[in-house]
Amino acid sequence: MDKRIIVAIDGYSSCGKSTIAKALAKAAGYKYVDTGAMYRCVALYVLRNAPFTMDNVDEAWLLAHINDIQISFALQADGTQHTVLNGEDVESQIRTLEVGNAASQISTIGFVRKAMVAQQQAMGKDKGLVMDGRDIGTVVFPKAELKLFLTASPEIRAKRRFDELVEKGQNPDFNDVFADVKDRDYRDTHRAESPLRQAEDAVVIDNSAMTREQQMEEVLRIFRSHI
Ligand code: DC
Repeated sequence: MDKRIIVAIDGYSSCGKSTIAKALAKAAGYKYVDTGAMYRCVALYVLRNAPFTMDNVDEAWLLAHINDIQISFALQADGTQHTVLNGEDVESQIRTLEVGNAASQISTIGFVRKAMVAQQQAMGKDKGLVMDGRDIGTVVFPKAELKLFLTASPEIRAKRRFDELVEKGQNPDFNDVFADVKDRDYRDTHRAESPLRQAEDAVVIDNSAMTREQQMEEVLRIFRSHI
């Protein structure tokens, strides 16, 4: 019998991590956890409830409230997974640029990461898990049996993010989306706490010139050689 493993997928924003992670989880019959959605939930909670703006984050307030933020995932009848914040389905609310930017900021705070990492590690105790994020192969599961690091050029990622927002009925400006991708890359790789970096033992996949199908084939081939 195949062994059940943990697959850690890390990479820059909008490089297709969640698409490939979901597809792999489905093919393998594994659980899927989108850790970016968890940081987005903390950001949404702050945007809705905090008595400050994102220019002036009061960390003491957030520390006092961090344990009031309960995040879970609910499987839908159509097989997709929705993110649930304190009992409310917030799947569409967390996917805006505003929440993404706030999440990028909030995720630099050490005690926020500590709280999220503890929840993420608990989700992996039975293995059979695909988890995507920025620090999965380096911090959350440094012993994951398979680590993938996805990359694509910033222009291509901005174009994908732009198309995604349009598809969701939003009306983005391409230059804003592109600037946002570059800002986020900088913040994700330069923060003091668990910056995005490639684990030494990660398999790197640059999908700039790959179709989804080609990428999936490659990922399945690598996965099968690890189980
Ligand atoms: O992958 P995403 O765009 O949904 O992530 C939102 C933000 O959360 C992103 O700017 C980086 C942060 N993040 C993180 O710091 N660590 C993770 N494991 C996942 C996301």
